[in-house]
This record gives sequence, structure tokens and C-alpha cells, in this order.
Amino acid sequence: MSTRHFLTLLDLSKKELADLIDRAVELKALHQQESDSSPFPNKVLGMVFEKSSTRTRISFEAGMTHLGGSAIFLSSRDTQLGRGEPIEDSARVMSRMVDLIMVRTFEHEKIQRFAEYSKVPVINALTDDYHPCQLLADMQTFVEHRGSIEGKTVTWVGDGNNMCNSYINAARQFNFELKIACPEGFDPMSSLLADNKDRVQLMRDPIAATRDSDLVITDTWASMGQEDEKRAREEAFAGFQVNHELMTYAHNDALFMHCLPAYRDLEVSAKLLDDEDSVVWDEAENRLHAQKALMEFLLES
Ligand code: CP
Ligand code: NVA
Repeated sequence: MSTRHFLTLLDLSKKELADLIDRAVELKALHQQESDSSPFPNKVLGMVFEKSSTRTRISFEAGMTHLGGSAIFLSSRDTQLGRGEPIEDSARVMSRMVDLIMVRTFEHEKIQRFAEYSKVPVINALTDDYHPCQLLADMQTFVEHRGSIEGKTVTWVGDGNNMCNSYINAARQFNFELKIACPEGFDPMSSLLADNKDRVQLMRDPIAATRDSDLVITDTWASMGQEDEKRAREEAFAGFQVNHELMTYAHNDALFMHCLPAYRDLEVSAKLLDDEDSVVWDEAENRLHAQKALMEFLLES
């Protein structure tokens, strides 16, 4: 059997993803009852970070501890990867010493090459193109608050970035309609749009995209690596803020999500983010539970 990786949501079947979300809900309950079973003593997760992180690092590290194993934080600043050791060599060496490897990097092609040379499962912890782990947490959060997302209408407002691309894959794998509102020049990957025409619509008007929606999501207008474009992007995205007024066009019980970190009063109003009903904090916590389910799945596969 070839090694299973999780580079995008398409690496797991619809059934595997649905089971994984159920398992995440179950693992969360077990953790809340202080009944973690620690099934993987001596298993080691290598965590390669070429970009910053709060949620991803903590959730993987804490998650691996709950599962009975341990995690090693590998910043590109301190490893030979950062000094130019080839990805292929790094993947071969690391995967002889650890049981799972999580990578956060820039070009998606880099993690694909890393996975090609790794003997153990590789998890995408964010690339410029995709952030599939965040989608596991988002799907868990929707299910916990509103039940199945199948057949629902979901709205993405803002940049057609790594999160937006992952939402297109999620629309396909979890069977929902996705409306994307982004300014011209900031569209998600065109091949993904072309492959998912039956359930994904690209629009320019945030109000039209939000009408009758069950879930509205946004993300920063300037992702990691785009810091120099921050000012220009703020101008380009004027009118694309998600706030209480925009949410009035969605269904009354629509949820708002944001993967965080958020920039208050830019892509989301401070009032909406800090609303007492906001599920963004559950969404962040669910990174822990969803990734425990993912690591369990990959270690057992
Ligand atoms: N949402 C997310 O991936 O957060 P971090 O960048 O803090 O890991
Ligand atoms: N789109 C953002 C997500 C951060 C978790 C970025 O890539 O920086």
C-alpha cells in the first residue's frame, strides 16, 4: 500500500472525511471528559514551519501529546532546510526518524515534492494554495452548531486565497453550494473553478453572494508572504468587509467563520468577530480535535 498523505481535501474520500469529522466530535467529548486514551506512545510528529503559526503549532503539538506521542518543532530558520538542503533529502532523512510529518510552507509544489520522497504520511499545514486542516475544523464546527452541511449554501467573501481554494474542494467533498465574492484580480485558482462549476459560483457582489447563505466566511486580505501588498489590498478590498449589515442578507441562523488571525475592521468588523454568538473560537479550538482525528487516521492507515 502506498503511503497516505493529506495535502488537499481530495486526498481522502467523501466517506473518510465524513467519518473523520464524526471522530473529531467524539475525540472532543473524550477530551472534555478527561478520557484521552493515548493510543500512540512513542509515535513522533515532525513539524516543519517555514511560516509563522499560533493555532497550527499548538493544536498539532498538544494533539500529539494527547495521543500519547510527541512532536518536534522544526523551524526552517534552525534546520538545514533553511540553508538550502534539498527538500528530497530532508524528506528522506526526516521520514526515517519520525512517524508523521506536518509541513507549512510557501509553494504547494514544495510539499508535493516532500511527500513524494517521504516514507511516512505528510500533512499540509498550509501552503500558498491550500489549508485543508483548517477546513476539517470548519466542517466540525458547522456540524456541531447546525448539523450536516450537505445541501447548504456557503459564502466566501474576500480574497481567493489558500482558504478559498480549500473551500472549493470542501464544496465538492462535503456536498454544498459555494458562492464566492471577490474583487476582480483576486480570484481563486481557475482550474478549481472550472472543475467545480456545478456547485461553485464566482461573483463580484458580496450582498448577492451572501443572500440566503447558511455560513459566511472570510480571511485576511493579505496572507503570509503578501505583507508588502497590504496597503494596496486594503484599497482593492474596500466594500468586501463582513459585518452585521452584510450578515442580514444571510439566513437568520447563518454562522460566521474566520480561520484567524483576524484584522478587526478590515475583512471583518470588530463587532461581528466579538459577538457573543461568534463561533470563531470554537472553530479555532476544533483545530485540535480535527487534527487528532486526522493523525489517528493517518497513523492507522
Ligand atoms: N488558522 C491558522 O492556521 O492559524 P495559525 O496561522 O495561527 O496557525
Ligand atoms: N490565508 C492566510 C491564512 C492564515 C491561517 C495566510 O495564508 O496567511
